[in-house]
Amino acid sequence: METTATKRRDNKKSLRVKVISLGNAEVGKSCIIKRYCEKRFVPKYLATIGIDYGVTKVQVRDREIKVNIFDMAGHPFFYEVRNEFYKDSQGVLLVYDVGLRESFDALDSWLGEMKQEMGSQANMDSIVFVVCANKVDLTKRRVVDEGEGRLWAESRGFHYFETSAQSGEGINEMFQAFFSSITDMCENGGKRPVSEVSVGFTKEQADTVRRIRNSKDSWDMLGVKPGATREEVNKAYRKLAVLLHPDKCVAPGSEDAFKAVVNARTSLLKNIK
Ligand code: GTP
Ligand code: MG
Repeated sequence: METTATKRRDNKKSLRVKVISLGNAEVGKSCIIKRYCEKRFVPKYLATIGIDYGVTKVQVRDREIKVNIFDMAGHPFFYEVRNEFYKDSQGVLLVYDVGLRESFDALDSWLGEMKQEMGSQANMDSIVFVVCANKVDLTKRRVVDEGEGRLWAESRGFHYFETSAQSGEGINEMFQAFFSSITDMCENGGKRPVSEVSVGFTKEQADTVRRIRNSKDSWDMLGVKPGATREEVNKAYRKLAVLLHPDKCVAPGSEDAFKAVVNARTSLLKNIK
């Protein structure tokens, strides 16, 4: 006979969660899910119409997790269909195609759409986000590198994984980390555990690395006007050096950014009398 204590223990052990997939059309959301759930890859593009729904069971430590997966259509045409599915999600897969910069740039607007649809429920700290840099098998057409993707993700407290639904690379590791974080969050009273949110670098450091990567010339990199004086260049350099010094900054890409700043200063000073 089942005792109340047994029932309570079983209840604690089983968990139901809802996860959703977001990202531009054709980035590989459905294929990532299919690779994990069905261990296969479909090369032909079959656009998701509105929403695809599926359930899978996974084991995390001593708990059985029933995962409800809502795979969203990325095409803007389906906005009206997907907008009501954002609510009550514990996990979000944010997917982009490493060969299409616009799909990476679109991640901000996907977060924006989600926040808008969730309205007052939009407590992003109670949701585990995983960024999938997908199609890494297509190395020749890659335009968004790992440092850039990782920086975007980790500066927001999101996980980052390089994945290929085609080869299977990164897929199991990504889902394991995803479900294990969701379980940790549920056991932590619905808050993302602090260890994940604190990533060892500040938003200012992450924003500065991003700005330096995207700067158009050495003046722009140091944040001074063309024609600035030696003092102005040195002052700007010192500020960036303190922020990005490899001993102090662990933001992805900060070492390269630091080197670029050193080179920019050297080349500017050469030409200033
Ligand atoms: P929507 O449902 O329209 O939002 O698209 P989606 O993001 O679900 O894309 P889907 O999974 O349908 O994949 C789009 C196309 O990319 C298909 O032709 C897939 O075969 C291909 N694809 C998906 N993942 C990968 C990958 O990792 N590598 C390669 N080479 N192709 C992939
Ligand atoms: Mg799809």
